[in-house]
Amino acid sequence: MADIRIPFNRPSFVGRERAYMEQCLAAGQLSGGGGFTRRCCELLEARLGCGRALLTSSCTDALEMCGLLLDLGPQDEFIVPSFTFTSSANAFALRGARPVFADVRPDTLNIDERQLEALITPRTRAIIVVHYAGVACAMDEICAVARKRGVMVIEDNAHGIFGKYKGRLLGTIGTLGTLSFHETKSVSCGEGGALLVNDSTLVERAEILLDKGTNRQQFFRQQADKYTWVDLGSSFVLADLLASMLLAQLEAEVEICSRREEIWRGYQRGLSAWASANGVLQPTIPPDCDSSYHLYHLILPNGGVRDRLLAHLRTLGILGVFHYQALNASPMGLRLGGRIGQCPVAEDVSMRLVRLPMFFSLTGAEQDQVTDAVTRFDSF
Ligand SMILES: Cc1ncc(COP(=O)(O)O)c(C=O)c1O
Repeated sequence: MADIRIPFNRPSFVGRERAYMEQCLAAGQLSGGGGFTRRCCELLEARLGCGRALLTSSCTDALEMCGLLLDLGPQDEFIVPSFTFTSSANAFALRGARPVFADVRPDTLNIDERQLEALITPRTRAIIVVHYAGVACAMDEICAVARKRGVMVIEDNAHGIFGKYKGRLLGTIGTLGTLSFHETKSVSCGEGGALLVNDSTLVERAEILLDKGTNRQQFFRQQADKYTWVDLGSSFVLADLLASMLLAQLEAEVEICSRREEIWRGYQRGLSAWASANGVLQPTIPPDCDSSYHLYHLILPNGGVRDRLLAHLRTLGILGVFHYQALNASPMGLRLGGRIGQCPVAEDVSMRLVRLPMFFSLTGAEQDQVTDAVTRFDSF
């Protein structure tokens, strides 16, 4: 097997990461709640216009906080797209709630808003939406159904930081939104995330859940003379050392986003003739959406072709990957009531999808090699 010359992801440093991390080390506060955490939260709140942003150690943690904030329990159901990462469902299933899997739209691979009405029952508490690849779900339709049926909308915005729907920033439209700063994401600190609290009545409790069920955040602000155990919670906070790296990346938003858009457009242009000649689907962005250009994917005619393309890229030292396996048909999904055949689009796409290398420091020459390797593939 050839050595990988072009990885699927390479951590990319864009500016002041090292300098800020040095400052953090010198200042001697490495744990959560320090100056860099405060600056990241203020930056996110100002830039996104969300009520309150809380840094967490992952998007998964932020989603678990959503489950706690909703007081979900075994009597409850939540609707979740089948084509997503396990955390979008796991975080709520952890509280005992039952996932109801919705299929996705074949064009954007986002939750199919036309199915929601039929999936809502008197037990439904929340609709989890995932803006796949940073392209917005049909939020007007989703929020209208949710309002009508008294259900909360939670945006798992792991992919879509700075993406927009009809001019509104993703993660700020639902009652709660989450972000991921995992190494593979556009803005990263290795492992990290954020909870965006868009409903001001939930802020105080969110701060308590974040910090092991204590009112320590109020104590830090001198709003309490001591802190103690006041609610459920866990250790969801991000270390300030990681927040120092994150701040450098957040400050480089324009540079990061424009480079990702350039790479995405380069693939779209370079692969279009090959794709249309061979029945390969390229991604589409509906007119209402400003994408965050988180990832570039192709949908091959069938699973066999997909696997042969991945193997072909590997022999040329290029790592493409697939994801997600439809959750309704996964071992855990089946245990929680999912059925094979329940989400035909998600099940089909999970066999046919390929993601190409996409990261800030991908060079033009590397992208040309990937494009060239893909367009030389003819084993359909
Ligand atoms: C849609 C989605 N939600 C949640 C997550 C989990 O993010 P994290 O690794 O920050 O917990 C991922 C990870 O890739 C994801 O793709």
